[in-house]
Amino acid sequence: MALPNRVKVVEVGPRDGLQNEQQIVPAAIKIELIERLADAGLSVIEATSFVSPKWVPQMADNAEVLAALLASPRRRAGVSYPVLTPNLKGFDAAVEAGAQEVAIFGAASETFSQKNINCSVAESLKRFAAVVNAAGALEIPVRAYVSCVVACPYEGAVAPEKAAWVAQRLLDMGCYEISLGDTIGAGTPASIQRMIEACAAVVPVENLAGHYHDTYGMAIANIYASLELGVAVFDSSIAGLGGCPYAIGASGNVASEDLVFLLQGLGIDCGGDLAGLLAAGRFISAHLGRAPASKAARALLARQGRQ
Ligand code: HMG
Ligand code: MG
Repeated sequence: MALPNRVKVVEVGPRDGLQNEQQIVPAAIKIELIERLADAGLSVIEATSFVSPKWVPQMADNAEVLAALLASPRRRAGVSYPVLTPNLKGFDAAVEAGAQEVAIFGAASETFSQKNINCSVAESLKRFAAVVNAAGALEIPVRAYVSCVVACPYEGAVAPEKAAWVAQRLLDMGCYEISLGDTIGAGTPASIQRMIEACAAVVPVENLAGHYHDTYGMAIANIYASLELGVAVFDSSIAGLGGCPYAIGASGNVASEDLVFLLQGLGIDCGGDLAGLLAAGRFISAHLGRAPASKAARALLARQGRQ
């Protein structure tokens, strides 16, 4: 199959990246980061999550961040700011803050579901159905994640059929896109392709997205393997920030700079401007007091330094 001509990049750094940071990042820094990411041409930026502040203190400023972005004079037309909503309580709070798109997040592994959202997979599907129904009434689109699509930090390898089973339930519920999460980055092109094939047998490939953490350095290879099967939406995190608080040892998503570098090299249009992303990555990395994890960013910044 030919590779897609166009790819949608879903930037998840301000949520998936920052949720894992121990030091609380001020709301003003988060807002500035997100606006810089929009300035760099990204059109979907996951802004925050409406989860329990006891579980994830970093996201306690969710309403402040989202409301400020929506009211900002810098806001660009065509840029959306989806937010995570695990249940109706989170959904109501998100709507109150002005959310125009939300995402629910389930798992292909029972133990991960319990550790992450404190309920079984079956119970989570009931909660998600309530969120999707409430969102439908307000014409709010819902994206969905499935975590642990190839491996679980507690249960080990996960059968592709399990990921596909959950993905199909979420599509049938009314979610417009199912993002397949390799939460601990343990997938390789072969296991990722087996998982995509199982999912694409029950969900149209146009509705699938890849969400690959880069723990073992496999994310770019896994994205290429997914492109080969027609997947054209990928989640990435600026400067490679992140991990999951309930998946110990997992590192961040594929870096947005690495993803855009790959896509540009393949001649695939994605809208992202590498120079703008480098600047945004440098901004948040400076705040956190470390160099960007992105190899492309490090190489390009080193070259800029020599000029
Ligand atoms: P729970 O404790 O089971 O909820 O948490 P509960 O219904 O029993 O309520 C307990 C308390 O939490 C109550 O407050 C509720 O009001 C409150 P109290 O009466 O004790 O004061 N509560 C809430 N507060 C704020 N927002 C809410 C909310 N819901 C209940 N939405 C819950 C269940 C899901 C809320 C909890 O487990 C939680 O917040 N978990 C955090 C999950 C999370 O953020 N994980 C990281 C994101 S997922 C991820 O990173 C994976 C992904 O990137 C894909 C991949 O990589 O695989 C998406
Ligand atoms: Mg993730």
